[in-house]
Amino acid sequence: MKLNIAVLAGDGIGPEVMEQALKVSDAIAKKYNHEITWTPALTGAAAIDAVGEPYPDDTHAICEAADAVLFGAIGHPRFDNDPSAKVRPEQGLLKMRQKLGLFANVRPTFTFPSLIDKSPLKRERIEGTDLIILRELTGGVYFGKRGRLDNGNTAFDTMTYTRAEITRLAKKGFELAMTRSKKLCCVDKANVLESSRLWRETVQAMEKDYPEVEVSYEFVDAVAMRLVQWPKAYDVMITENLFGDILTDEASVISGSMGLMPSASVGEKNKLYEPIHGSYPQAAGKDIANPLAMVLSAAMLFEDFNLTEEAATIRAVVNKSLEEGIVTEDLSENGKAYKTSEVGDWLVKNI
Ligand code: IPM
Ligand code: MN
Repeated sequence: MKLNIAVLAGDGIGPEVMEQALKVSDAIAKKYNHEITWTPALTGAAAIDAVGEPYPDDTHAICEAADAVLFGAIGHPRFDNDPSAKVRPEQGLLKMRQKLGLFANVRPTFTFPSLIDKSPLKRERIEGTDLIILRELTGGVYFGKRGRLDNGNTAFDTMTYTRAEITRLAKKGFELAMTRSKKLCCVDKANVLESSRLWRETVQAMEKDYPEVEVSYEFVDAVAMRLVQWPKAYDVMITENLFGDILTDEASVISGSMGLMPSASVGEKNKLYEPIHGSYPQAAGKDIANPLAMVLSAAMLFEDFNLTEEAATIRAVVNKSLEEGIVTEDLSENGKAYKTSEVGDWLVKNI
């Protein structure tokens, strides 16, 4: 297969972990006879420095023209501590999601047998966890009306959803549930929020189209508790943007390290793959960050192009590296930590 992939390495550890994902993907391409063209493009603080904006039009054009986008991380501490900054790297991420129409963010949470004891949660509670949070990504409070009133002394953000936005996300949820255990949980706050009541009403109306799917409705606060108490209760979950943002960070704790979990963001046309971790600026340039979430994001990309064996090969070699202790410092025991690039080299060699 011929694939043209846009590469947005971004900020912080983005470029280093991306390098490993490209090495691994090139090794896969060689092994299975695919031809991948990587087209790099600027984003984040790097793009602000170069052209004054975090998601430039040139970058958008490259993403639109590509078969898919691989994305590293975005964010820089020099903006975090300056609430008055007019242009922020994160705006680039939001603009990109919106302009590429990436309305569904697929964030899996699973455990690695060799890492179960790394999780702060007890083995018996998490062993065998395998869930997917489908987070709505281009609506809600992230994109609703916001502003200041009262001479700047009152601030507001609004959570707005249309039935169409909920329907297209829920449809993906039902379809995903059909390929798995046929269990779908709709996470909302319908006891308080009007937008959540629309979510519930919309999803309830769709149930008849998927008679085999068993749907449950749970409030987000209760889910936040149950997710770490008994994650195996869940399979496919659907939720709005901000709830999904919070729950997916929480869920990542189950696997033992934030540096492990990949994600996919998809729309009608475009597809983007990125680790769920951020730019981790403290580690930038040190060759110490865990590249596995980025590498596993590339595996999700292959999977979505029906290159199932290719994806399985990546996952198998990642598992093998974990079992053999070829890990970066976030996962290392007894002092032996491998560098980001060494983990990448090892994966390539073993493919
Ligand atoms: C994420 C991140 C982003 C979000 C930030 C960086 C804007 O936390 O991808 O989860 O809130 O969506
Ligand atoms: Mn987040």
